[in-house]
Parts: sequence; C-alpha cells; structure tokens
Amino acid sequence: MTRSGLDDSALRHVDSIYYDGAHYDRRYETYTRDIEFWCALARSTAGPVLELAAGTGRLALPIAESGREVVGLDVAPSMVAQAQRKRRPATAATFLVGDMRHFALERTFGLVILACSSVCHLLTDADAASCFAAVARHLRPAGVFAVDVATPHHETATADGQWRDRFGYPDPATGAAVTVRGRRRYTPETRMLVDDLEYTIAGGRTARATRTSRMYTADQLADLLDGAGLRVDRSYGGFDGRPPSADAQTQILICSLGRAARGS
Ligand SMILES: C[S@@+](CC[C@H](N)C(=O)[O-])C[C@H]1O[C@@H](n2cnc3c(N)ncnc32)[C@H](O)[C@@H]1O
Repeated sequence: MTRSGLDDSALRHVDSIYYDGAHYDRRYETYTRDIEFWCALARSTAGPVLELAAGTGRLALPIAESGREVVGLDVAPSMVAQAQRKRRPATAATFLVGDMRHFALERTFGLVILACSSVCHLLTDADAASCFAAVARHLRPAGVFAVDVATPHHETATADGQWRDRFGYPDPATGAAVTVRGRRRYTPETRMLVDDLEYTIAGGRTARATRTSRMYTADQLADLLDGAGLRVDRSYGGFDGRPPSADAQTQILICSLGRAARGS
C-alpha cells in the first residue's frame, strides 16, 4: 500500500499516457454512444449515484448535470484531476481517488455503475469478488448495480500480435495530431489481453503504454456477482436496449441485491 492507502499494483497499471486525463478526453471525445443509456438508467432509479472507475467524468458529469448527486471514484489521480477541472460549480458531482477493489465511503447509493468495460481492470476473480462485495455494501436495499463489458471475442478478434495503426486524436496541449500504433496479445488460459501502444506526438516525442485487461463473459460475471450477493435482473446486448446475443459487441448487466434463483 502507498501512503494514500492505494495499492501500488493499481497505480502502476494506470501510470501511462493512456490514463493522462487530458489525453483521455481528446481520445474519447467522439465516443458518446453510451451516455444516454447511463443517463436514462440514472433517471429510472432514486438516490445518489456512485460511478466506479469514473475516469474524467465522461458519464458521471452528464448524470450529475441532469440533477443527480454523483460520486466518481477512480484510481488514477490524473483522471480524477481532469474530472474535477471539468465539473461546473453548481453540479453535485464529487470525484475521489480510490481503488474500486477496496473502498468504504460510509454511505449508500441508489445506483452504482461500472461502465466502459472498466470491469476488465479487475484482473483476478479475487479482485472482482472484492469489488462486487464492496458494491453490495454500498447499495441501498432497492438499489441497482449496472456493469457493461465488451464481449470477449470482439475484443480479442485482432489480438494476433501484429502492429497496426490503432487511433489518433489532437494533442490536448498543441492540437497537433497524436497517432497511436499498437499490438494486442491474448492468452486464453488466463483471459488476459495485453495491449501495447506506441504514441507519436508532434515534435518527434514518443510515449509507450501497456494496458492489461481481463475478459469476462456475462456468465462469468453473473457467477462472481452471485458470490457477492448480487443478482442479475436483466441484461442487454447494446446501449440501444437490444437483447443479449452471441454476436453482440457489448454485454450490459443490471443487478440488485439478492441471490439468483438457480436450477437444481
Ligand atoms: C476505460 S476507462 C473508463 C472511464 C470512464 N468510466 C468512462 O466511461 O470514460 C477505465 C478507468 O478505470 C480506472 N481504473 C483502473 N483500475 C482501477 C481500480 N482498481 N479502481 C478504480 N479505478 C480504476 C482507470 O484509471 C480509468 O479511468
């Protein structure tokens, strides 16, 4: 543990240009397709909202701006600082540095969300179990927990170890183009996907980032949720509310406190 109470392993994981808040916002500026889904889910619940792995507030801020109190928790100080910079003064949004695997906020919420495949940062079953148990402790009796995760085969389809152009965006400092090449490698036995990224920034600067994530099917998540006393009430295969299917790119699980009814 560091002096701030955070586990070094979580901090190391996000210590790269990928989790620099200003770069993250420029990279994801055009990724908006999930925002209305999460705002609508917030409207359908009561009480304050907790977003785990809230990043720069891409989702937490629009939810708060619609009139809800939101707490955003994220382990990367640079992401939290960026969220705090963007927060308008009258908005009831608070951003905290913390680890979603071990948090104790001394209060409960009507809705807890873990969005944008951030569950993939839980690299072991023990990490997922610890996070989901903390979620259960922070939910009000009628509260809702919702998680989305990319369907594993969509994420791993290009995990062939080949370097290719991945994405680009304007540098937050200068507006000049940042271009990113990357390669993906996947180990089915551990379900670990490793993303090596090489950034080229105007002026000849370069940076590297390695992202490690763990793949989860909806069934694997449901088992871990069940172990933490959370039951999947409904699920979707996309942010337009379509039913889950084998070829869906996204899996969204909406849960409440309670055990799943299991067949004998
Ligand atoms: C893909 S980003 C999603 C950010 C935001 N939810 C969004 O939709 O834009 C994943 C976030 O998870 C955070 N993260 C990774 N491990 C974490 C942990 N153990 N506890 C809390 N946050 C974590 C990263 O710092 C990063 O901000």
